Formats: sequence, structure tokens, C-alpha cells
Amino acid sequence: MNHADPQAAVTAYWSTRAPLFDGVASHVAQGDLWRAVLEAAFESDGPRDVVDLGSGTGACALIAAGLGHRVRGYDASPGMVAAARAAANAAGIEASFEIALIADIPAEDAGADIVTLRNVLWTLEQPMQALQTAHRLLRPGGRLVVSDGLWSVAPQYRSTYAPELSARLPLHDGITEPQMRLMLAEAGFTPLRAWQQLFPVSPYPGDVPFFVLSARKD
Ligand SMILES: C[S@@+](CC[C@H](N)C(=O)[O-])C[C@H]1O[C@@H](n2cnc3c(N)ncnc32)[C@H](O)[C@@H]1O
Repeated sequence: MNHADPQAAVTAYWSTRAPLFDGVASHVAQGDLWRAVLEAAFESDGPRDVVDLGSGTGACALIAAGLGHRVRGYDASPGMVAAARAAANAAGIEASFEIALIADIPAEDAGADIVTLRNVLWTLEQPMQALQTAHRLLRPGGRLVVSDGLWSVAPQYRSTYAPELSARLPLHDGITEPQMRLMLAEAGFTPLRAWQQLFPVSPYPGDVPFFVLSARKD
């Protein structure tokens, strides 16, 4: 891995994991629980324009599309985008997936009603930039639905990044809900509600503190 270019190393890591990721990711296995929680967090009464940042194998994007929304997913990793496209085809769900860095999303400003960002902030060199991108992509009144957790408490949820790479990622240990609320406010969002309490059982066994927060662009 090329640690002189942390993003290249992160992207290569996820392309390597892409073929097997759906088999190990607990938030994929818990798809039904996530569907109910995301549907609640979206608080929408009809189809919306949704952008999923760091869409991975498309688990979150495909839930949103299955709820009837018009969904575009973007991910840095070609392997992940290929897996997401294959998953959409296999499920007969309409959603588009493109290779793109969050810093460089080829979508128009203020064109989305909802932006989703699940389990991506921890693996970014510049997490605040991702919140700023979400803010740029949203229409006034649109909402960000962001989820992440304090991954350092449970070894099974840690990446196997080399230490030199982890050290370049400010949130590699994970994020707490209070920390997330501060970051959202700094990026210009008005935090709305927490939704993680809707899970009847944690989607992350091992007592990992995690959150699902919605926040509005005013
Ligand atoms: C833990 S996975 C989460 C995938 C998905 N959001 C989910 O919930 O299943 C993190 C994803 O972030 C992507 N990623 C990392 N850095 C990125 C960047 N700068 N721009 C876009 N995607 C990025 C990785 O390729 C990987 O697919």
C-alpha cells in the first residue's frame, strides 16, 4: 500500500474487500432493521433525490432506492462501485453508482433532498470536508442522515489498515454522538434527531456506541 498517498491506500483496501464485504458487514446482515430506521430518519412523504456518499457495496443506497427514492451512490473504490452495481442489478432496483471521491462528487449543488453518510467519516483524511460536501449537495431544507460509531471499543469492527495509514485518519478510532453533533453544527447543519434508539437490538453486537443522526441544511 502507498502510505504517501493515504487516499490511494484507503481506496485499494476497499477494492480488495469489496467482493467479500457484504458477507461480513453487520449493517448489511441487519438490512431489515436498517430499512426501518432509515425510513424513519428520512421523514419523507414521497420519493426524494438521495445521494449516498461512500456508498460501498450499496447497502444503504439500495435501501433508500427500495423505499422509492431516486438514488445516486458515489464511492472512491472501483471494486465497491462494481459490487454496488451488481447488487442493484441482482435485486432489480434502480439506482446509479459512480466512482468519485467525496471531495469531487460530480453532482450539482443543491440538487439533493437527502444525503446519507454511513460509516465513512472514520476512514477519511478530512472528515469535515465530507460534511461540507453534503451541505453543498443538499437543497435548503434538505437533510443529512449520518451514522458512525466508536469503533475503538470493539476489535472486530476495526480496519486492518497499517498503523501509518490509521495515523493519518483523524477519526479512525470512531466518533461519539456528542462529537458528531459538534461537527454537524460546525459544518452549518442544524441537528434534528437521533434515531439509533429505534433498533430493537444493536446492529453492532459488542456494545459499540453508535448513532444515526439527522440534520437539516437551513
Ligand atoms: C466502511 S465502508 C461503508 C460503505 C457504506 N456506506 C455502507 O454503509 O455499507 C467505507 C467506504 O468509504 C469509501 N471511501 C473511503 N474514502 C472515500 C472518499 N474519499 N471518497 C469516496 N468514498 C470513499 C470506501 O471505498 C468504502 O467503500
